[in-house]
Amino acid sequence: MNKAVRKAVIAGNWKMNKTPAEAKTLIEEMKPLVADAKCDVVLCVPFIDIPAAVEAAKGSNIKIGAENVHFKASGAYTGEVSADMLKEAGVEYVVIGHSERRTYFGETDQTVNLRSLAALNAGLKAIICVGETLEQRELGYTETLLKFQTKMALTNVTKEQLQNVIIAYEPVWAIGTGVTATAEQADEGNGYVRTAIAEAYGADVAETVTIQYGGSMNAGNADELVAKVNVDGGLIGGASLKAPDFAKIVAAASK
Ligand code: PGA
Repeated sequence: MNKAVRKAVIAGNWKMNKTPAEAKTLIEEMKPLVADAKCDVVLCVPFIDIPAAVEAAKGSNIKIGAENVHFKASGAYTGEVSADMLKEAGVEYVVIGHSERRTYFGETDQTVNLRSLAALNAGLKAIICVGETLEQRELGYTETLLKFQTKMALTNVTKEQLQNVIIAYEPVWAIGTGVTATAEQADEGNGYVRTAIAEAYGADVAETVTIQYGGSMNAGNADELVAKVNVDGGLIGGASLKAPDFAKIVAAASK
């Protein structure tokens, strides 16, 4: 394992929080706090906040991401947003297949795959989320499920495109619950994802892919989590809405 070949990425996932004006204020507050980051810093924000966020982040090391993307290029898909629209708006990253979308909005492994392909074909970086529920973990299906979700999401993704893929391992039971996976559980889950990539693309390629942990990562536990060999940063929900907390997580991943 050579963690040095991968760049850690700390990405905030604001979910359905912050108006455009609030987004501007929060990014202005974050900019000086994360300016010295040695990891990549991304904020994934609601669609309507994107123009304000891109403008506020200009000239800084903060990159802007979206929280979803549709898989068709254009057409009669009321309420949806295409990859080209995001790209033109200045978006560089997009979260795909978050467990909240899988649970509340009918997202499936197949639509996660289609969205990933649309994002990658448009030149966006895809942050693809995978993770087991508590029930699946207790039944002993964590490894099987993580490998299946990873391989399904990456169907028809080329080796070259994989360089623009980040996988976020987010145990569903740890998201927004305050229950964090232990560093060992996070490392193990991320390891299953890396093994799935190795099985599909080869071990050398798998070593280069950034795999984040997500689920109640915060200023207090980030150090221990990101120190693990398979944990290349994090996808941060709640703690990304507070500039000092987010900055501490970025600092932890910069060591
Ligand atoms: P949380 O969310 O950090 O609030 O648990 C993580 C996520 O949903 O990406």
